[in-house]
Parts: sequence; C-alpha cells; structure tokens
Amino acid sequence: MIEIGLIGFGNVGQDIYRILNENGSLISKRIGRPLIIKRIAVRSPEKYSNLITDPSLLTTDVNDILNDPNISIVVEVIGGEIPALDYITTALTNKKHVVTANKEVISKHKKHFFKMAHTNGVDICFEAAVGGGIPIIRALKVGFAANKIKAFYGIINGTTNYILTKIKDEKKEFNTVLKQAQDLGFAELDPTMDISGLDAAYKCSILAAVAFKLDSQVNEIVHKGIESITLKDLNYATELGYAIRLLAQGKQLESNEFELQVCPSLIPLNHPLASVHNEFNAVYVVGDQVGEAMLMGKGAGGSPTASAIISDIIDISFGISQQTSSRNLETNFQDGQIKPLNKTMSQYYLRINVKNEPGVLEQVSLQFAEQSISIEKIIQKESNTNIAEIVIITNTIEHQNFIEVETALSNLKQCNKVESSIRLYKTL
Ligand code: HSE
Repeated sequence: MIEIGLIGFGNVGQDIYRILNENGSLISKRIGRPLIIKRIAVRSPEKYSNLITDPSLLTTDVNDILNDPNISIVVEVIGGEIPALDYITTALTNKKHVVTANKEVISKHKKHFFKMAHTNGVDICFEAAVGGGIPIIRALKVGFAANKIKAFYGIINGTTNYILTKIKDEKKEFNTVLKQAQDLGFAELDPTMDISGLDAAYKCSILAAVAFKLDSQVNEIVHKGIESITLKDLNYATELGYAIRLLAQGKQLESNEFELQVCPSLIPLNHPLASVHNEFNAVYVVGDQVGEAMLMGKGAGGSPTASAIISDIIDISFGISQQTSSRNLETNFQDGQIKPLNKTMSQYYLRINVKNEPGVLEQVSLQFAEQSISIEKIIQKESNTNIAEIVIITNTIEHQNFIEVETALSNLKQCNKVESSIRLYKTL
C-alpha cells in the first residue's frame, strides 16, 4: 500500500480526494498496489468534516503527516512560500517524496529542493505548478529529452487568458470578468499576481529550469501584466491580423545567453497560440530535433490541477514499486546569463492619442524616422472630434530604441498620450 499525506484541502485538495475515490481502483490497478490518503492537514477541520467519509483523516497538526513513517508521499496544496517551504524541506529531510502545485515555492527554491531530494534519494514533482492539467513538465523532462530546447512560448495564466477572451468576445468590463474568473476558482487569492504577470513569471522560471536547466528567479524575468489592455487594443489587433495574449517566453540564444520575459504579445491569428481561449493554457515548444510542438489544456481550476498532481503521485508510485527515485533530470543547472530587456529585439504595436489637426501624422512619423525605425503598418480612423487615434506597428527594433521613440512621442505637443504599447510575438 502507498500512503499519502495531503497538506491543504481547498479546491485542489478536494478534487484530489474526489478523483482518488472515483478512479481509485483504476489507479491502484495501474500502479499495482492500493494508493490511499492517510491524513489531511487543515487549519479548521470542522469546515471539511462533512466533505469526506472518514473525518478522522483530518488533522490540524502537519507533523502527523511529516513524521508518519508510513506516509511515503507528501502532497502540498496550500500555495505561497511560507510555510510551504518548511513543510517541503522537512518532508524531503524525512525522505518523503513531495508533490506540489506551488509555483511560488518551486520557482524560488528549486535549486535547494532538487539538491535535497537528490541527497535524500527521493523525488520532488511539480507538474501542476505550470499549465494546470497539461503535462508540460513531463513533456520537457522526458518527452522532449532528446532535444536541445531552443524556445518555449506559453500562455500559462488561465485568469488573464479568460479575461482577455471575455473582454474581446463578450465586450465585458475588466472587473466583471475578473470576478467571474475568481468565482470559477482560476484566480489566485490575490488576483494581482495573475493580472500583473507575476504568476506567469513564476511559471516561466520553472519552465526555464526544466527546458534549459537554468536557475532563474522572478526578479530576473521582466514581467508586464494585462492591466492596460483594453477592448480597443483587442479590436485593433484583430483588424491587423493578431490576437493579444499574455505570453511567457524563454529563448536560448548563443553562448549560454537566455531571453526570459512575460508580457502581453500580439500573436498572428494563424499561429496555434492565437486559438487558445478562456482559461485554457498552451505551451509551444521549439526543439532542435522535434521541431515545433504545442500542448494545450485547462491551465487552472481544481480538477485539471488535481489531475496533474495525481499523475505525479502515480509516477512516484511507479518509482517506489521499482525502487528507483531521484529522477529529477533538472538537478544539474547550467550557468547562463539573462539578456537585459533593453537589448532584446521585437516589433511593437503602439496606440497613440493625438490632436486632430494638420501636420500631426508628419510629426509622429518624424519621431520614428529620427530613431531609424521603420513603420510597418499604420491605422488612423476618421474622427469627428479634436482627438484622433493612431495605431502603428514598427519593424523589428531593440527595446531601448523603442523606449526612446515612445518617450519622444509622449513629449510631442501634438500627442495627448501613448495609450498602449505591446510587443509582437517573434519566433527565434
Ligand atoms: N491563478 C492561476 C491561473 C491558477 O489563473 O492560471 C493556476 O496556477
């Protein structure tokens, strides 16, 4: 028998319990022995006792799990850095395998955890930390293991993808749609983590660890959220042949230099990532042998996340049965530099609010010419007021160059405001 201890019993924890009940005999048959939840650690057992058949599984003392010699797999689903860091560290020290959905703690402490797991001869698995139900970690660790991964492009935050889709398709207000995402259980406790791109940045650093063996921290990943994206931008993007998605990108350049960033991006409508809607996530991987591949699925919500967690539990159980462990292929990190944002290259979309008077377009295009930036596309609609709107797509330029033109435009007396600026998806 394989015994599991569950720390946390929110949406995801409850779905793990449900799935192990519903598909328990199938799962036990697959791993060749029974798999049972032995204890569930929660703060307030009274809130959960009517949700499970045997309320005596509930405990308020996490040590009932961490110190139980019969529990071989600890599943952490409380989220956040503290106290998850302590619980995982103790579990690994006590030679227990760990499964977690916690992107923050994995992103911040992966090096420490992988080393500890290796030293103690156990595994730490985190499939659910990125892309919810999509098996992207296993795909990168095993499925694409023959490849040098050149790049990944991920829509890895369900809440923001849901918001962008609903604003565009249903013309709903930002806050209305955010509330819907919260009600559906996608959003973080503090939704600014989703909106600001921080959640995706944690996941981006985890993908970089698995894809490139690079130990990056979120403060090294430039991240921009979707706060300033409006229905107008989404509509202009469609008119120009693009969708707007919050995209996490990782690219391996030459001589161990990497590009890592999270920002809204214009993606050509004929690219597979442009057809990823609502809370769906997708990761588009470019490998030197496999070429281009995309995995897509539900990236948020209890059931898909629990599905990924149970896949890790099953994988570890196979290891226990075969008496193998410590299969973390990403234990050995490589040295690498992250390219400063200012030096990265991209095309840019700009929406500028200007005075509706003669000579404005000339002044605007002069700012681009002075920076030797070529304008690839431009839209200006008829306006009956004293305000006009100009939308521009530049050619590929260095970010620093873009900042200079953006500043010059903001200082232009005919320009009321640079309303938005968005990078375009750029393949390697
Ligand atoms: N808040 C996250 C999202 C949940 O919206 O994608 C999954 O990590």
